Amino acid sequence: IEQDYARLSQWAANHVVERINQFQPTAERPFVLGLPTGSSPEGMYAALVKANKEGRVSFRNVITFNMDEYVGLPESHPESYHSFMARNLFDHIDIPRENVNILNGNAEDLEAECARYEEKIKAVGGIHLFIGGIGPDGHIAFNEPFSSLTSRTRVKTLTTDTIIANSRFFDNDVNKVPKHALTVGVGTVMAAQEVMILCNGHHKSRALQAAVEGPVTQAWTISALQQHAHSVIVADEAATEEL
Ligand code: GLP
Repeated sequence: IEQDYARLSQWAANHVVERINQFQPTAERPFVLGLPTGSSPEGMYAALVKANKEGRVSFRNVITFNMDEYVGLPESHPESYHSFMARNLFDHIDIPRENVNILNGNAEDLEAECARYEEKIKAVGGIHLFIGGIGPDGHIAFNEPFSSLTSRTRVKTLTTDTIIANSRFFDNDVNKVPKHALTVGVGTVMAAQEVMILCNGHHKSRALQAAVEGPVTQAWTISALQQHAHSVIVADEAATEEL
């Protein structure tokens, strides 16, 4: 638990820097990072850009896999997760473009795209550190309530709650929010060697309570993390109000 969002972001960025540097990645033995979008990781990304510019960490031998992407939104749309990642991280660090993996929500065959993504994660030996956020309803990536806790990368229909929550990025117009997304599964996240979740703000306090004090349940997909051997939730004080 960190006092506020600035400290939470710095803690998370320091953790990522430490993990990459401890691993001493090379081209033959890269570090594999799973990455989220949303407002929660923005501060961490800014701190990682700074650390990279100051030479405290390099992403030259880091491979990334993003958690999710909207279906049918052009990659160039400012709210696509492709655009978000370029704007907040990839355009500002030394990662080779070919090391970046983001699901293609405009693929002709969406199921084949999801299968390809899982294969690619497997081919690089799995994810070392998966970073995520939490939706107010406890979803991780786009694993909406009642997603299977063993699910893998697939197409999901977004819930009305998530469409309303994300409409703030689409002129507050729910009709402009895509209705489907491609997302890694809860099982994909659980297969990572380590998972780090960022949770800030009072509006996340009910989800945090369900995540750590409730039972493991598909109703709050984040609760699956209770059964992960190596997971950490980084929260600010406001998010802990229901604990
Ligand atoms: C979206 C993303 C999730 C993210 C959630 C919370 O639904 N698919 O990965 O955790 O939003 O977003 P925020 O961090 O903006 O609260």
